[in-house]
Amino acid sequence: MNTVKTVRELRAAVARARNEGKRIGFVPTMGNLHSGHIALITKATQRVDFVVASIFVNPLQFGAGEDLDKYPRTLAADQEKLLEAGCHLLFAPAVEEMYPDGMTGQTRVSVPQLSEGLCGASRPGHFEGVATVVSKLFNMVQPDLAIFGQKDFQQLAVIKSLVHDLNMPVQIIGEPTVRAADGLALSSRNGFLSEEQRAVAPVVYRVLSQMAEAIKQGERDFPALIDAQFKQLEAAGLRTDYLEIRHAQTLRPATPEDRDLVILVAAFLGTTRLIDNLHLSLDTTA
Ligand code: PAF
Repeated sequence: MNTVKTVRELRAAVARARNEGKRIGFVPTMGNLHSGHIALITKATQRVDFVVASIFVNPLQFGAGEDLDKYPRTLAADQEKLLEAGCHLLFAPAVEEMYPDGMTGQTRVSVPQLSEGLCGASRPGHFEGVATVVSKLFNMVQPDLAIFGQKDFQQLAVIKSLVHDLNMPVQIIGEPTVRAADGLALSSRNGFLSEEQRAVAPVVYRVLSQMAEAIKQGERDFPALIDAQFKQLEAAGLRTDYLEIRHAQTLRPATPEDRDLVILVAAFLGTTRLIDNLHLSLDTTA
């Protein structure tokens, strides 16, 4: 696996693969790779002939006071994992390579509606930062397909929407969240949890599972359901940012008639913000 740091080298390497008739798959990441990321790479190796990963901690998607500076940078370990997983090319640019003219005058890509609410409400500008860097990366790599984790459900919806709206010729694939044995969704931010917090963290997925089960059993009083489970999160010592039941495609608040639902949560354990979701498709008899 080759690691390149400039757009020029990236384009040259991808062009070589393309000239050999290879289909290109892309997995953008911010590094500090765990099994969830590796599952995306593995999926890509099954779908295409040439897999490109990127590692770039994108300042544009972090707000003031967020964890940009302490976000873990583990390039050597990441390179080993990518190599082992069958990745062909890693693009690991510096901030100056991605934003050579600085970020103030940088053209931005914004996806209204889907970016509003949920994480967009607590992290103003976050999805604009994501949509902008993903658009840039897509233009640099020009992949046939790109793979993202479903753990960032709203992010995936935003990216699907921007690709559709801007007619980008790239297929977007969402892959299921990889979880620890106790249900906690894998995330680079889990590394910030103390041992004690890590023991509490699985409550996040338990709450989602209990809500999904209640809905499957016919519960349609969503506000009451949210209220009860919100209290469970708080009782476990989390500070809940949001706990919501939404329509899985539009992300609008769910109505009792909706069949395609997603339950989304963001909650702080100490200073660490955990997010998770559970997609729930109800069959017609439920
Ligand atoms: O999900 C992530 O790791 C990031 O938001 C992404 C998509 C790589 C953009 O920086």
